[in-house]
Amino acid sequence: MVLRRGLLIMVLSACEYGESVIHRPHTLLSCAISVDGYLDDSSPERLILSGEADLDRVDEVRAGVDAILVGANTVRRDDPRLVLRSQARQAARAERGLAPDPAKVTITRSGDLDPAARFFTLGEAPKLVYAASGAAEKLDARLAGRAAVIDAGADPELAWIVGDLARRGVERLMVEGGGGILSWFLSAGLADELHLTVAPRLVGDADAPRWLRPGSAPAGSLTLLETRRVGDCVLMRYAVTERPADREWLTRAIALSRRCPPSRTAFSVGAVLVAADGSEIAAGWSRESDPIEHAEEAALRKVDPEDSRLPGATLYSSLEPCGARASRPRPCAELTVAAGVRRVVYALREPARFVDGTGDERLRQAGVEVVEIADLADAARDVNAHLLPSD
Ligand SMILES: NC(=O)c1ccc[n+]([C@@H]2O[C@H](COP(=O)([O-])OP(=O)(O)OC[C@H]3O[C@@H](n4cnc5c(N)ncnc54)[C@H](OP(=O)(O)O)[C@@H]3O)[C@@H](O)[C@H]2O)c1
Ligand SMILES: [Zn+2]
Repeated sequence: MVLRRGLLIMVLSACEYGESVIHRPHTLLSCAISVDGYLDDSSPERLILSGEADLDRVDEVRAGVDAILVGANTVRRDDPRLVLRSQARQAARAERGLAPDPAKVTITRSGDLDPAARFFTLGEAPKLVYAASGAAEKLDARLAGRAAVIDAGADPELAWIVGDLARRGVERLMVEGGGGILSWFLSAGLADELHLTVAPRLVGDADAPRWLRPGSAPAGSLTLLETRRVGDCVLMRYAVTERPADREWLTRAIALSRRCPPSRTAFSVGAVLVAADGSEIAAGWSRESDPIEHAEEAALRKVDPEDSRLPGATLYSSLEPCGARASRPRPCAELTVAAGVRRVVYALREPARFVDGTGDERLRQAGVEVVEIADLADAARDVNAHLLPSD
């Protein structure tokens, strides 16, 4: 079975891929909720919350992704079709050399999935089931070739599953619920966008599922990208800007800024470059190897420019990377873009002391995701207190 242009889908166990981690797909979480935040009611029948206009909008988003993922309980309860409704959109995909429908993906620990479910019986797209080791073999026999069953290990890890999808050519992933799976993606820091359609309904049923399980929200923040009226519903689109580990890494960058040789003319900054799998690639601090070196420059200098982890990496810097620089021709924002790094997190906006801070803007213009965690700014500022006016 072929997923995307020549990529074979096979039944593999988690360990056969070794430890190398390829970047994960761009992941958007999507669901329809009632005004009071429920995904469904507690009756056995499926509750259709959104209307025709929103189903068509969802269809359009589906047409732009490589795979759609739902939890096994949604397959059991809702029996969703997960194929495009619009033939025109299917044809447009085919013209782009893609399968008419995105691949379908689900995750199960129990292996309790019915081969007659529409997930398996509808559409020509590849179907993938990530199953816990204990269930994979039996399920594979029961599905009898209707889907590729992938042994995801005894205790499946989401980071591994999305890494595996990336290895199979999935660059854009849409996660359509239910609450357990949406909560898992958010708490694991593996979501990039959130699309919530609020339908004009009140469920008010304490036993009904919410779209986000209490306690599973990351410590992070959302940035509103768009609100749109869709029929009688409202679409709210957010970027998931802060990930759970961001604060920890940024705190490390701030700690590194204390190692800088003292200066009366330049800021003390620390920087850490972290791979998508959460491992440190390199770190640096201002003036680490020469008197005018910047922290980001010091960290990037230690990485092979061909390192395949760079596009999935995040650069943490205690200070906004510089966008203009007196000491060298290439500011850190430019070095970051040139290195292929697509995400930057910083604490303190560059105070207008030596040059105007335009690094944030330059990075965004180049398509880099920039996250400012302003409540860590004071810690980054303390190290530079002698250079800054006290307020
Ligand atoms: N309004 C909407 O847009 C929308 C969209 C989708 C769903 N829904 C509703 O959401 C409800 C279903 O949500 P849900 O939270 O109960 O279920 P879910 O998120 O669809 O699926 C949860 C299932 O995923 C599997 N899973 C979770 N963590 C796992 C792990 N660590 N390892 C392996 N497998 C794991 C388990 O499958 P096993 O049980 O098989 O082990 C678990 O039961 C339904 O009421 C449905 O109608 C609404
Ligand atoms: Zn710089």
